Amino acid sequence: MPRSKTIRKAVLPVAGFGTRVLPATKAIPKEMLPVFDRPAIDYVVAEAREAGIEHIVFVTGRNKGAIEDYFDHAFELEHSLQAKGKTAILAEVEAARLPAGTSSFVRQQAPNGLGHAVWCARDVVGDEPFAVLLPDVLIMGQPGCLKQMVDAYETVGGNLIAVDPVAPEQVSSFGVIAPDGVADGPLTRMKGMVEKPKREEAPSLLRITGRYILQPAIFDKLAAQKPGAGGEIQLTDAMAALMAEEAFHAFQFSGRSYDCGDKIGYLAATVAFALNNPALSAEARQTLQTALNEAATSRS
Ligand code: UTP
Repeated sequence: MPRSKTIRKAVLPVAGFGTRVLPATKAIPKEMLPVFDRPAIDYVVAEAREAGIEHIVFVTGRNKGAIEDYFDHAFELEHSLQAKGKTAILAEVEAARLPAGTSSFVRQQAPNGLGHAVWCARDVVGDEPFAVLLPDVLIMGQPGCLKQMVDAYETVGGNLIAVDPVAPEQVSSFGVIAPDGVADGPLTRMKGMVEKPKREEAPSLLRITGRYILQPAIFDKLAAQKPGAGGEIQLTDAMAALMAEEAFHAFQFSGRSYDCGDKIGYLAATVAFALNNPALSAEARQTLQTALNEAATSRS
């Protein structure tokens, strides 16, 4: 039976510069950019909590204070909404708050890479398996992607990496997994990963998608990891080292992912979440249709 301790903690690395979405991120953390009616990171925290995560470790850096404030009390605002009887929106504001003592903020003094950011959370995570969620990747799924992964983890244990299919003509833009045998439902045993392979050399069309369940042994690998691509400590390199010792499975989630760290991915997420909003979907659809019609008319 594989070792399978409950996944109680999730690491959300938020210390990057967000250069691909500049100038929007010059003064605002990328993770706080609104995706329709809430910051991107709100969706990711909700996904973590739906999966049973009890404690969230944010790995932050300079200029990321807005994230801490977002998940805290906003006393004057809440008091004012209360006094004005704006109870519906007050409930939404309050729902964003994390319960006392269920979050930690650790500092990554310089953005030395995703692997380094995860390593910065080592003392707070301790000696137990944990989840990593990249907050610029939004996944629309029912249930959420991490909940699907936690359910799969309870049967298979080890380390899990979320993947979703990518078109052959796009595979050279992503990191993909190298399978070790055939898929068993959503799970595929892995033997490696390849970053941005040529189309004809890609070992699979399953790209790595920003959600992980990792065993704590990853921290030793990260501590020993030399800088890789871009001179940064890469999580992928440390996972490859751990793969020699521990089982890794790719998990093909059901749902759709959006890369909000990229301008067009961000646009796609905003449109999708607007269309998915129970209260405003119809109006959003109408607005988008009008915008498309107007753009088509002005072009012709
Ligand atoms: P990205 O590479 O997508 O974020 O990392 P980035 O570095 O902010 O983006 P660009 O390339 O400059 O546009 C995925 C997540 O990991 C965090 C980022 O904040 C993002 O949420 N990250 C990345 C860190 O916390 N520290 C790092 O050193 C690198």
